[in-house]
Amino acid sequence: MNAPGPAIAAAPPEQVFDWLETEAQRRAEAGLVRRLRARTPDTGELDLAGNDYLGLAREKRVAGAAAAASLRWGAGSTGSRLVTGSTELHAELEHELARFCGTQAALVFSSGFAANLGVVTALSGAESAIVTDKYIHASLIEGCRLSRADVAVVAHSDPDAVAHALRTRRKQRALVITDSVFSVDGDLAPLPELSAVCREHGAALLVDDAHGLGVLGEGGRGAVHEAGLAGQPDVVTTITLSKSLGAQGGAVLGPRRVIRHLVDTARSFIFDTALAPGSAAAALAALGVLRGEPELATRVRTTAQELATRLTAAGLSVSTPAAAVVSVRAPSPDDAVAWAARCAEHGIRVGCFRPPSVPDGVSRLRLTARADLTESDVDRAVQVIVDNAPN
Ligand SMILES: Cc1ncc(COP(=O)(O)O)c(C=O)c1O
Repeated sequence: MNAPGPAIAAAPPEQVFDWLETEAQRRAEAGLVRRLRARTPDTGELDLAGNDYLGLAREKRVAGAAAAASLRWGAGSTGSRLVTGSTELHAELEHELARFCGTQAALVFSSGFAANLGVVTALSGAESAIVTDKYIHASLIEGCRLSRADVAVVAHSDPDAVAHALRTRRKQRALVITDSVFSVDGDLAPLPELSAVCREHGAALLVDDAHGLGVLGEGGRGAVHEAGLAGQPDVVTTITLSKSLGAQGGAVLGPRRVIRHLVDTARSFIFDTALAPGSAAAALAALGVLRGEPELATRVRTTAQELATRLTAAGLSVSTPAAAVVSVRAPSPDDAVAWAARCAEHGIRVGCFRPPSVPDGVSRLRLTARADLTESDVDRAVQVIVDNAPN
């Protein structure tokens, strides 16, 4: 036990949160103040900021399925999955997701964030090593923090660095974690190479395919499917239902025994109210639309490429998009915010990523292509982004 330090004076209740002002001041000086904007249903803006890649969030079959399911099953799921929250809709969605993505089984969570927390903690623990790409999504990072495993964070998209970390690990059991398409720059992880390294060293591979589902692979089956890794005994995938499927929720896809283990042990599954029936029905309907219209996936990729090519030609520093995400570098956080605000004034809504959401500290505009953008939408977006770029 440490010796007791000097007595700490009790602050009066009205001063207990005074430290928040100091923190807010620090964020303001660093240009990192964030604002919530409540949008109206019809903003009239061209949306290049959301993640509705296939334009399905408001599609009649999808939104209509959510409405009908809410009326039939209720607005909420009434309980956790293991108590009253599992409906026939959840079971059907799990079956269809596994069938579409080519895995043995699937398990639906209330969000992609919860799915990532659940799978990372349930597939690791104090007796495990975890090796992660340094740019993985925040939800996976939180899972690693909760895992009690030995965590090695390695260079971005670097299978040799992963191999080195696996070779020098102290724990037998190992899990390698990566995003498929990285949220910030939209680049693709070297999945076949990572899988080969995992196999060489007896590790499992966990891939977050949030930005790959609906966009990459045959008919939008995702990056894991495209890499030939779907259905493999040592590969687990997480997805969100909130991007290309236009709904809400998340899922883990993988071998049946992994899914069984999650049902028994994943705390963000067990101690969380189940996904609302409306969201499950919307995701199911969106999956049906994607099956019937596989060209939607191709269209998103083509539009992303076109945006990137034209913005690069105009002299901007633009990422090479592997899927729907196109990122454009800004000189500073303040420049990024002002640039995005000028675009909004001209009717183009773009995302703005700044620290701490950008692991490399570089602020960016983040654009997302959608399958339902027309040529004139793209023309207008390019013109406004270029005309309003910082000098
Ligand atoms: C790569 C990635 N993983 C997980 C999530 C979390 O998913 P959800 O928004 O469904 O919680 C997101 C997005 O928000 C994401 O971009």
